[in-house]
Amino acid sequence: MSRVRYHVSSSVASRTSDDATDEPLDEAFARAVVEGLSAPQKALSSAWFYDDEGSRLFQEIMALDSYYLTRTEHAILRSRGYELARRIAPDARPVDLIELGSGDGEKTLSLCEALARRGAQCVFKPMDISSHALEQLSQRFAEHLPGFPVQPLCGDYFLNWPATDPGRRQVAMFLGSNLGNQTHDGAIALLRRMRAHLRPGDALVLGLDLKKDPHVIRAAYDDPEGVTARFNMNLLTRLNRELGMDFDLDQFSHYATYSPLDGAARSFLVSRRRQIVHSRRLACDFAFQAGETIYTEQSQKYSQGMIDTMARESGFDVQCHFTDERGWYTVVVWQAVDTAA
Ligand code: AVI
Repeated sequence: MSRVRYHVSSSVASRTSDDATDEPLDEAFARAVVEGLSAPQKALSSAWFYDDEGSRLFQEIMALDSYYLTRTEHAILRSRGYELARRIAPDARPVDLIELGSGDGEKTLSLCEALARRGAQCVFKPMDISSHALEQLSQRFAEHLPGFPVQPLCGDYFLNWPATDPGRRQVAMFLGSNLGNQTHDGAIALLRRMRAHLRPGDALVLGLDLKKDPHVIRAAYDDPEGVTARFNMNLLTRLNRELGMDFDLDQFSHYATYSPLDGAARSFLVSRRRQIVHSRRLACDFAFQAGETIYTEQSQKYSQGMIDTMARESGFDVQCHFTDERGWYTVVVWQAVDTAA
Protein backbone atom coordinates (compact mmCIF):
# COMPACT_ATOMS: atom_id res chain seq x y z
CA MET A 1 0.00 0.00 0.00
CA SER A 2 1.19 3.47 -0.79
CA ARG A 3 0.07 5.36 2.31
CA VAL A 4 1.11 4.41 5.79
CA ARG A 5 -0.04 7.29 7.95
CA TYR A 6 -2.28 10.05 6.81
CA HIS A 7 -4.04 12.42 9.11
CA VAL A 8 -4.18 15.73 7.32
CA SER A 9 -7.46 17.33 8.20
CA SER A 10 -9.55 19.37 5.77
CA SER A 11 -7.74 22.41 7.16
CA VAL A 12 -4.14 21.81 6.20
CA ALA A 13 -3.36 25.40 7.14
CA SER A 14 -3.92 24.58 10.81
CA ARG A 15 -0.70 22.54 10.78
CA THR A 16 1.45 25.58 10.18
CA SER A 17 1.27 27.27 13.55
CA ASP A 18 4.38 25.55 14.93
CA ASP A 19 6.43 26.49 11.88
CA ALA A 20 7.19 30.10 12.67
CA THR A 21 10.15 30.16 10.26
CA ASP A 22 8.27 28.66 7.29
CA GLU A 23 6.66 30.59 4.47
CA PRO A 24 2.85 30.66 4.68
CA LEU A 25 1.47 27.34 3.47
CA ASP A 26 -0.05 27.31 -0.04
CA GLU A 27 -3.22 25.40 0.82
CA ALA A 28 -4.11 24.47 -2.76
CA PHE A 29 -0.61 23.04 -3.25
CA ALA A 30 -0.75 21.15 0.06
CA ARG A 31 -4.12 19.60 -0.76
CA ALA A 32 -3.04 18.62 -4.27
CA VAL A 33 0.09 16.95 -2.90
CA VAL A 34 -1.77 15.01 -0.20
CA GLU A 35 -4.35 13.85 -2.72
CA GLY A 36 -1.78 13.09 -5.42
CA LEU A 37 0.60 11.12 -3.19
CA SER A 38 -2.26 9.19 -1.58
CA ALA A 39 -3.70 7.86 -4.83
CA PRO A 40 -3.02 4.27 -5.98
CA GLN A 41 -1.09 5.75 -8.92
CA LYS A 42 0.74 8.65 -7.32
CA ALA A 43 0.50 11.80 -9.45
CA LEU A 44 1.32 15.51 -9.22
CA SER A 45 0.23 18.11 -11.78
CA SER A 46 2.94 19.52 -14.03
CA ALA A 47 1.52 22.95 -13.18
CA TRP A 48 3.57 22.73 -9.95
CA PHE A 49 6.88 22.54 -11.87
CA TYR A 50 7.10 26.29 -12.26
CA ASP A 51 8.60 27.76 -9.10
CA ASP A 52 11.54 30.12 -9.76
CA GLU A 53 14.03 27.29 -10.32
CA GLY A 54 11.53 25.29 -12.41
CA SER A 55 10.91 28.34 -14.64
CA ARG A 56 14.68 28.82 -15.01
CA LEU A 57 15.18 25.16 -15.92
CA PHE A 58 12.36 25.36 -18.46
CA GLN A 59 14.20 28.26 -20.14
CA GLU A 60 17.24 25.95 -20.32
CA ILE A 61 15.12 23.13 -21.79
CA MET A 62 13.82 25.42 -24.54
CA ALA A 63 17.40 26.05 -25.69
CA LEU A 64 18.35 22.34 -25.83
CA ASP A 65 19.14 20.74 -29.20
CA SER A 66 16.78 17.85 -28.44
CA TYR A 67 13.86 20.12 -27.43
CA TYR A 68 12.77 21.03 -30.95
CA LEU A 69 9.33 22.47 -30.03
CA THR A 70 10.23 26.09 -29.20
CA ARG A 71 12.69 26.50 -32.07
CA THR A 72 10.27 25.02 -34.59
CA GLU A 73 7.35 27.15 -33.43
CA HIS A 74 9.49 30.32 -33.61
CA ALA A 75 10.56 29.40 -37.13
CA ILE A 76 6.93 28.98 -38.23
CA LEU A 77 5.91 32.30 -36.66
CA ARG A 78 8.83 34.02 -38.41
CA SER A 79 8.55 32.39 -41.83
CA ARG A 80 4.73 32.40 -42.07
CA GLY A 81 4.21 35.68 -40.22
CA TYR A 82 2.77 37.43 -43.26
CA GLU A 83 0.09 34.77 -43.88
CA LEU A 84 -0.70 34.50 -40.17
CA ALA A 85 -1.09 38.28 -39.95
CA ARG A 86 -3.54 38.09 -42.86
CA ARG A 87 -5.62 35.50 -40.95
CA ILE A 88 -5.50 37.49 -37.73
CA ALA A 89 -6.41 40.82 -39.33
CA PRO A 90 -8.26 39.85 -42.53
CA ASP A 91 -9.96 43.24 -43.07
CA ALA A 92 -9.94 46.82 -41.80
CA ARG A 93 -11.51 45.86 -38.46
CA PRO A 94 -9.21 46.60 -35.50
CA VAL A 95 -7.94 43.58 -33.60
CA ASP A 96 -7.22 42.74 -29.98
CA LEU A 97 -4.56 40.01 -29.95
CA ILE A 98 -4.78 38.29 -26.55
CA GLU A 99 -1.94 35.89 -25.79
CA LEU A 100 -2.46 33.47 -22.90
CA GLY A 101 0.89 32.71 -21.25
CA SER A 102 2.91 35.18 -23.30
CA GLY A 103 6.09 34.88 -21.22
CA ASP A 104 8.68 37.48 -22.22
CA GLY A 105 7.21 37.95 -25.71
CA GLU A 106 10.18 36.54 -27.61
CA LYS A 107 8.03 34.24 -29.76
CA THR A 108 5.34 36.80 -30.56
CA LEU A 109 7.51 39.76 -31.50
CA SER A 110 8.00 38.60 -35.10
CA LEU A 111 4.25 38.04 -35.51
CA CYS A 112 3.50 41.55 -34.23
CA GLU A 113 6.15 42.90 -36.63
CA ALA A 114 4.26 41.19 -39.47
CA LEU A 115 0.98 42.73 -38.23
CA ALA A 116 2.63 46.16 -38.12
CA ARG A 117 3.96 45.69 -41.68
CA ARG A 118 0.43 44.77 -42.78
CA GLY A 119 -0.77 48.05 -41.30
CA ALA A 120 -3.19 46.18 -39.02
CA GLN A 121 -4.78 48.23 -36.28
CA CYS A 122 -3.83 45.83 -33.54
CA VAL A 123 -3.48 46.05 -29.76
CA PHE A 124 -1.36 43.25 -28.28
CA LYS A 125 -2.72 42.09 -24.88
CA PRO A 126 -0.21 39.61 -23.43
CA MET A 127 -1.38 37.75 -20.30
CA ASP A 128 0.91 35.93 -17.90
CA ILE A 129 1.06 35.02 -14.22
CA SER A 130 4.65 36.34 -14.06
CA SER A 131 4.87 40.13 -13.72
CA HIS A 132 8.63 39.83 -14.32
CA ALA A 133 8.06 38.16 -17.71
CA LEU A 134 5.56 40.90 -18.66
CA GLU A 135 8.08 43.62 -17.74
CA GLN A 136 10.65 41.93 -20.00
CA LEU A 137 8.04 41.73 -22.76
CA SER A 138 7.25 45.46 -22.49
CA GLN A 139 10.96 46.30 -22.68
CA ARG A 140 11.44 44.01 -25.68
CA PHE A 141 8.57 45.63 -27.58
CA ALA A 142 9.65 49.16 -26.61
CA GLU A 143 13.11 48.38 -27.99
CA HIS A 144 12.25 46.43 -31.16
CA LEU A 145 8.76 47.59 -32.09
CA PRO A 146 8.28 51.03 -30.54
CA GLY A 147 4.82 52.45 -31.03
CA PHE A 148 3.11 49.05 -31.28
CA PRO A 149 0.34 49.17 -28.64
CA VAL A 150 0.94 46.67 -25.85
CA GLN A 151 -1.38 46.30 -22.83
CA PRO A 152 -0.02 43.57 -20.49
CA LEU A 153 -2.38 41.82 -18.06
CA CYS A 154 -0.99 39.93 -15.07
CA GLY A 155 -2.87 37.07 -13.41
CA ASP A 156 -5.41 34.35 -14.13
CA TYR A 157 -6.37 34.28 -17.82
CA PHE A 158 -10.08 33.86 -17.35
CA LEU A 159 -10.50 36.26 -14.42
CA ASN A 160 -8.60 38.92 -16.34
CA TRP A 161 -9.88 38.29 -19.86
CA PRO A 162 -10.09 41.78 -21.40
CA ALA A 163 -13.45 43.19 -22.46
CA THR A 164 -13.62 44.21 -26.12
CA ASP A 165 -15.96 46.65 -27.74
CA PRO A 166 -18.21 45.25 -30.49
CA GLY A 167 -16.33 46.91 -33.34
CA ARG A 168 -13.11 45.01 -32.63
CA ARG A 169 -12.13 41.44 -33.49
CA GLN A 170 -10.67 39.34 -30.68
CA VAL A 171 -7.97 36.84 -31.52
CA ALA A 172 -6.78 34.63 -28.66
CA MET A 173 -3.44 32.87 -28.87
CA PHE A 174 -2.19 29.86 -26.89
CA LEU A 175 1.26 28.83 -28.11
CA GLY A 176 4.13 26.63 -26.97
CA SER A 177 2.13 23.37 -27.11
CA ASN A 178 0.87 24.29 -23.65
CA LEU A 179 -2.48 22.69 -24.49
CA GLY A 180 -0.63 19.38 -24.69
CA ASN A 181 -0.07 19.39 -20.92
CA GLN A 182 -3.80 18.75 -20.50
CA THR A 183 -5.65 15.46 -20.79
CA HIS A 184 -8.09 15.28 -23.71
CA ASP A 185 -11.02 16.23 -21.44
CA GLY A 186 -8.98 18.96 -19.79
CA ALA A 187 -8.01 20.37 -23.19
CA ILE A 188 -11.61 20.44 -24.41
CA ALA A 189 -12.75 22.12 -21.19
CA LEU A 190 -10.00 24.75 -21.55
CA LEU A 191 -10.80 25.39 -25.22
CA ARG A 192 -14.50 25.77 -24.38
CA ARG A 193 -13.65 28.36 -21.72
CA MET A 194 -11.69 30.30 -24.34
CA ARG A 195 -14.57 29.91 -26.81
CA ALA A 196 -16.97 31.30 -24.19
CA HIS A 197 -15.00 34.58 -24.16
CA LEU A 198 -15.03 34.90 -27.96
CA ARG A 199 -17.81 35.92 -30.32
CA PRO A 200 -18.65 34.23 -33.62
CA GLY A 201 -16.06 35.32 -36.17
CA ASP A 202 -13.34 35.82 -33.53
CA ALA A 203 -10.36 33.48 -33.76
CA LEU A 204 -8.02 31.26 -31.77
CA VAL A 205 -4.39 30.58 -32.74
CA LEU A 206 -2.82 27.46 -31.22
CA GLY A 207 0.74 26.10 -31.35
CA LEU A 208 0.66 22.29 -31.16
CA ASP A 209 3.27 19.56 -31.32
CA LEU A 210 2.64 16.80 -33.87
CA LYS A 211 3.13 13.02 -33.78
CA LYS A 212 6.45 12.06 -35.35
CA ASP A 213 9.33 9.58 -35.01
CA PRO A 214 8.99 8.33 -31.41
CA HIS A 215 12.77 8.53 -30.91
CA VAL A 216 12.71 12.27 -31.59
CA ILE A 217 9.89 12.81 -29.09
CA ARG A 218 11.42 10.69 -26.36
CA ALA A 219 14.76 12.48 -26.71
CA ALA A 220 12.99 15.83 -26.21
CA TYR A 221 11.87 14.65 -22.75
CA ASP A 222 15.03 12.76 -21.79
CA ASP A 223 17.90 14.95 -22.98
CA PRO A 224 21.48 13.68 -22.63
CA GLU A 225 22.42 16.83 -20.69
CA GLY A 226 19.95 15.83 -17.95
CA VAL A 227 18.19 19.22 -17.83
CA THR A 228 14.69 17.70 -18.12
CA ALA A 229 15.60 15.24 -15.36
CA ARG A 230 16.59 18.18 -13.11
CA PHE A 231 13.35 19.98 -14.09
CA ASN A 232 11.29 16.95 -13.03
CA MET A 233 13.33 16.31 -9.85
CA ASN A 234 13.00 19.98 -8.87
CA LEU A 235 9.41 19.20 -7.95
CA LEU A 236 10.74 17.12 -5.05
CA THR A 237 13.01 19.99 -3.98
CA ARG A 238 9.93 22.22 -3.99
CA LEU A 239 8.01 19.72 -1.85
CA ASN A 240 10.91 19.56 0.61
CA ARG A 241 11.11 23.36 0.86
CA GLU A 242 7.43 24.28 0.90
CA LEU A 243 5.90 21.32 2.71
CA GLY A 244 8.83 20.37 4.96
CA MET A 245 9.17 16.98 3.26
CA ASP A 246 12.29 14.84 3.40
CA PHE A 247 12.58 13.43 -0.13
CA ASP A 248 16.13 12.13 -0.67
CA LEU A 249 16.75 13.15 -4.28
CA ASP A 250 19.39 10.44 -4.72
CA GLN A 251 16.66 7.88 -4.13
CA PHE A 252 14.46 9.01 -7.05
CA SER A 253 15.07 9.15 -10.79
CA HIS A 254 13.51 10.74 -13.88
CA TYR A 255 11.74 8.44 -16.34
CA ALA A 256 10.24 9.60 -19.67
CA THR A 257 8.12 7.57 -22.09
CA TYR A 258 6.36 8.19 -25.37
CA SER A 259 3.51 6.03 -26.63
CA PRO A 260 2.84 6.26 -30.37
CA LEU A 261 -0.54 4.60 -29.69
CA ASP A 262 -2.09 7.58 -27.93
CA GLY A 263 0.51 10.22 -28.82
CA ALA A 264 1.31 11.01 -25.16
CA ALA A 265 4.79 11.67 -23.83
CA ARG A 266 4.66 11.01 -20.09
CA SER A 267 7.14 11.77 -17.33
CA PHE A 268 7.49 10.08 -13.97
CA LEU A 269 9.65 10.14 -10.86
CA VAL A 270 10.69 6.63 -9.85
CA SER A 271 11.47 5.54 -6.31
CA ARG A 272 14.81 3.68 -6.39
CA ARG A 273 13.99 1.74 -3.24
CA ARG A 274 11.31 1.04 -0.66
CA GLN A 275 11.10 4.15 1.50
CA ILE A 276 8.91 6.41 3.59
CA VAL A 277 8.82 10.16 3.00
CA HIS A 278 7.64 12.41 5.82
CA SER A 279 6.10 15.85 5.68
CA ARG A 280 6.71 17.90 8.81
CA ARG A 281 4.26 20.61 7.84
CA LEU A 282 1.44 18.25 6.89
CA ALA A 283 2.26 15.79 9.68
CA CYS A 284 1.96 12.75 7.46
CA ASP A 285 4.00 10.03 5.81
CA PHE A 286 3.91 8.57 2.32
CA ALA A 287 5.25 5.10 1.59
CA PHE A 288 6.96 4.18 -1.67
CA GLN A 289 7.66 0.69 -2.95
CA ALA A 290 10.89 0.11 -4.89
CA GLY A 291 10.12 1.09 -8.49
CA GLU A 292 6.89 2.92 -7.62
CA THR A 293 6.25 6.01 -9.73
CA ILE A 294 4.84 9.51 -9.37
CA TYR A 295 3.23 10.56 -12.67
CA THR A 296 4.25 14.19 -13.17
CA GLU A 297 3.51 15.27 -16.74
CA GLN A 298 1.66 14.51 -19.94
CA SER A 299 2.78 16.22 -23.17
CA GLN A 300 0.32 15.32 -25.90
CA LYS A 301 1.39 15.01 -29.55
CA TYR A 302 -1.39 15.37 -32.10
CA SER A 303 -2.34 14.17 -35.56
CA GLN A 304 -4.12 16.66 -37.83
CA GLY A 305 -7.27 14.54 -37.37
CA MET A 306 -7.09 14.87 -33.56
CA ILE A 307 -6.69 18.64 -33.91
CA ASP A 308 -9.70 18.96 -36.23
CA THR A 309 -11.83 16.88 -33.83
CA MET A 310 -10.85 19.13 -30.90
CA ALA A 311 -11.90 22.19 -32.92
CA ARG A 312 -15.35 20.73 -33.60
CA GLU A 313 -15.79 19.57 -29.99
CA SER A 314 -15.04 23.03 -28.63
CA GLY A 315 -17.04 25.27 -30.98
CA PHE A 316 -14.53 26.26 -33.66
CA ASP A 317 -14.10 25.87 -37.42
CA VAL A 318 -10.62 25.08 -38.72
CA GLN A 319 -9.39 27.97 -40.89
CA CYS A 320 -5.84 26.92 -41.75
CA HIS A 321 -2.64 25.47 -40.36
CA PHE A 322 1.01 26.38 -40.80
CA THR A 323 3.40 23.46 -40.45
CA ASP A 324 7.19 23.32 -40.72
CA GLU A 325 8.90 21.43 -43.57
CA ARG A 326 9.54 18.34 -41.47
CA GLY A 327 5.89 18.20 -40.37
CA TRP A 328 6.91 18.27 -36.70
CA TYR A 329 4.88 21.18 -35.36
CA THR A 330 1.84 23.18 -36.37
CA VAL A 331 0.31 26.59 -35.73
CA VAL A 332 -3.44 26.40 -36.37
CA VAL A 333 -6.01 29.16 -36.81
CA TRP A 334 -9.58 28.38 -35.80
CA GLN A 335 -12.63 30.62 -36.07
CA ALA A 336 -15.36 30.69 -33.41
CA VAL A 337 -18.59 29.38 -34.89
CA ASP A 338 -22.05 30.57 -34.01
CA THR A 339 -23.15 27.65 -31.83
CA ALA A 340 -26.67 29.13 -31.52
CA ALA A 341 -27.15 29.03 -35.32
C1 AVI B 1 5.29 23.74 -21.17
N1 AVI B 1 5.19 22.47 -21.89
C2 AVI B 1 4.51 22.65 -23.18
C3 AVI B 1 6.43 21.69 -21.98
C4 AVI B 1 6.16 20.35 -22.73
O1 AVI B 1 6.84 20.13 -23.73
O2 AVI B 1 5.27 19.62 -22.32
C5 AVI B 1 7.00 21.40 -20.60
C6 AVI B 1 8.17 20.46 -20.63
N2 AVI B 1 8.30 19.38 -19.92
C7 AVI B 1 9.44 18.79 -20.16
N3 AVI B 1 10.08 19.48 -21.08
C8 AVI B 1 9.31 20.56 -21.37
